[in-house]
Amino acid sequence: MRDRPLTRQGNIWEIRDVARRRLPSPLFDFLDGGAEDEWTLRRNIAAYDRWSLLPRTLSDVATIDTTTTVLGHKIDWPVMLAPTGMSRIFHPDGEMAIARAAAKAGTIYTLSTMSSFSMEEVGAVTAAPKWFQVYCFRDRELTREFLTRAKAAGYTGLVVTVDVPVPANRERDRRSGMTIPPKLTLSSVTKFAQRPGWVFDYLTNPPPILANVAHKIAEGSGGGAVSLPHYVNSQFDPSVTWRDIEWMVGQWNGPLIIKGILHPDDARNAHAIGAKAVIISNHGGRQLDAVSGSLDALPRIADAVGTDIELVLDGGIRRGTHVLKALALGAKACMIGRPYLYGLSAGGEAGVRRALTVLRDEVRRDMALVGACTVDEVTRSLINGAV
Ligand SMILES: Cc1cc2nc3c(=O)[nH]c(=O)nc-3n(C[C@H](O)[C@H](O)[C@H](O)COP(=O)(O)O)c2cc1C
Repeated sequence: MRDRPLTRQGNIWEIRDVARRRLPSPLFDFLDGGAEDEWTLRRNIAAYDRWSLLPRTLSDVATIDTTTTVLGHKIDWPVMLAPTGMSRIFHPDGEMAIARAAAKAGTIYTLSTMSSFSMEEVGAVTAAPKWFQVYCFRDRELTREFLTRAKAAGYTGLVVTVDVPVPANRERDRRSGMTIPPKLTLSSVTKFAQRPGWVFDYLTNPPPILANVAHKIAEGSGGGAVSLPHYVNSQFDPSVTWRDIEWMVGQWNGPLIIKGILHPDDARNAHAIGAKAVIISNHGGRQLDAVSGSLDALPRIADAVGTDIELVLDGGIRRGTHVLKALALGAKACMIGRPYLYGLSAGGEAGVRRALTVLRDEVRRDMALVGACTVDEVTRSLINGAV
């Protein structure tokens, strides 16, 4: 199906509507949904409503500079792309399209360990700075192999996700029969048949695989694509501790970022073991339900760590004003997950570009409206206490 530039879609919600119309419902639910009652999923967005902006006027906002630096990298605006697995299930160009769009938008893409193109393929697609996301796997040799490969493929930051000690309880996926990779079964065929464009793309392209670990299956069990997720699930290690992540800091020998921090004491621990940044995140409400919205957790963490460690926040960012609120409460930058996947599902690389453009335009306009010419000027004085 032809990709669309989505010129009529002027905000992330409108791009989401197109994604919903393009994807079979089990896939849209997998993208959009969260764990159990999805309280945290809703809370991630609702948390922004507890704060209001307090603009300054008459401060000459003729020139707005949205650039900032994260771990020494200059990015064109304070939003980066969070890691999301298996993007080829949403569009055949998957992670390649996302990496290209992120580079064109002047920001950093973090490739997921669960990607459907390999870290080497995506590493070669643009010269722009990229980060790689990894878990501390049960097989420490596999973990070490990933670090070596990521470094060789040019990734400059290592994001270690720590909020998946065990797989989550995603009830929408159970109800819809969603599997990774998707299987067209007798019971789901009617849902898929309603989206012939997606089905055509899916059937006329190579099946998505977990490209970074595909060789493990070839070496070991001799299974096909379906056994890859089982292999990866068996690699999640609930016994991982701070000591293991400290080991990874030493192995990586570069900036290491810990993703999935909500408690101020854990942010302090991250600094103590040598991490350079934390991503305040609840995995987009996809892991433990009933945890606070990411924004709710930010002020206490910012108070606890000061400038010792850089703070990045993801979860629920859908508007430029959400970015401004996170910056005002102490984040150095934000990340988005679903917003760029809506763009990918709706229109491939052009769709991701559209999602990034509308959000970036909002950030720029909102900075002018709040009276901040630079990202550093978005401080706590521009936000009104929780309501
Ligand atoms: C479809 C999907 C797949 C994801 N896969 C990963 C992953 O492989 N690794 C990871 O650390 N986080 C993963 N996440 C979580 C995101 O990195 C991020 O924390 C979350 O999407 C942010 O919330 P938002 O979607 O509201 O922006 C995934 C999220 C989604 C929606």
